[in-house]
Amino acid sequence: MAERKSFGSDNHAVTHEAVLRAVVDANHGDAVAYGDDEWTRRATSELRRAFRADGDVFLVFNGSAANILGLSLLLRRHEAVICAESAHINTDECGAAEQILGTKLLTVPALDGKLTPEMIAAQLSARGDDHRAQPGAVVITQTTELGTCYTLEELRKIGEFCRASDLGLYIDGARLANAAAFLDCSLADLAECADVLSFGGTKNGGMGAEAVIVMRHELAADVPYLRKQQLQLASKMRYLAAQFLALTEDELWRRNASHANAMARRLADGVRDIPGVDVRYPVQSDAVFAGVDPRFLKDLQREWFFYVWDEQASVVRWMTAFDTTEADVDQFVASIRSAAGHPSGE
Ligand SMILES: Cc1ncc(COP(=O)(O)O)c(C=O)c1O
Repeated sequence: MAERKSFGSDNHAVTHEAVLRAVVDANHGDAVAYGDDEWTRRATSELRRAFRADGDVFLVFNGSAANILGLSLLLRRHEAVICAESAHINTDECGAAEQILGTKLLTVPALDGKLTPEMIAAQLSARGDDHRAQPGAVVITQTTELGTCYTLEELRKIGEFCRASDLGLYIDGARLANAAAFLDCSLADLAECADVLSFGGTKNGGMGAEAVIVMRHELAADVPYLRKQQLQLASKMRYLAAQFLALTEDELWRRNASHANAMARRLADGVRDIPGVDVRYPVQSDAVFAGVDPRFLKDLQREWFFYVWDEQASVVRWMTAFDTTEADVDQFVASIRSAAGHPSGE
């Protein structure tokens, strides 16, 4: 039997062929290490241009490290970070921000994963109180961990609020490509409000490369040293850079993300009329969250790989990727429909 597509994560997908080809193409001759090579110069310059970044671009190995490096540029030693409770830095980075940066996360419940200026403002009441960690930066995730997407207007308002409130703004852009595809806008449009952001390559068809984009010139000077201290300076940097060269060529990143988004929409549309399945958030990227009747959830899990997001509420996360096909989705929907028609024991 052919291997079934995983709906567990966009990280479960293979590497895009063009990325692999670019890595192989880079595999000739010697190149000076630690980023002083032609591939890195080209990739970082391409990303600087795409983001209209006044600062600089730094490649790292993974998204958690990008978050830590990016945030480290925005915080003083006594400062805290405001983020949604669902933020990856809060839920899935093993306390790296707390451990490595020594910061405190001021988490805000956000039903759809999105912060608003009002939610951020509510965290500022302790300003000036020397018993309390002082908010220094805000982290938002675009697209969010719940598959939702900030509009450009929402981003603009958050950016303005942060600037007026002397707060740095960092965007966790592990899925920034999905946001640009969903909003049909440029990477620069998304980045405009931020001081620093990440741009994920791995979930978009890469095999382990993320970029930290420093939007403001004055924030960039320390990054080379901090990246090394944070163990993210790749010696054979050309292979990370080659991945971004492939993803930026003719905006392959956008095609990959558009396709993944479209497959998530197809999945959500396919299950909407199935009794016992209840799509929870607007489907604005490559994730579908759904309440699934626990009577047939286990049956489905025996056949397909995906994660239960909230065991108690019986909510699952189904994710697509650049290589999910329409046939994969249709087969999955048919299985869900069939399982829903025969809840166990009936
Ligand atoms: C929103 C978000 N940020 C960051 C990351 C980075 O993770 P990693 O360190 O596994 O590359 C992920 C990965 O799942 C993510 O979903």
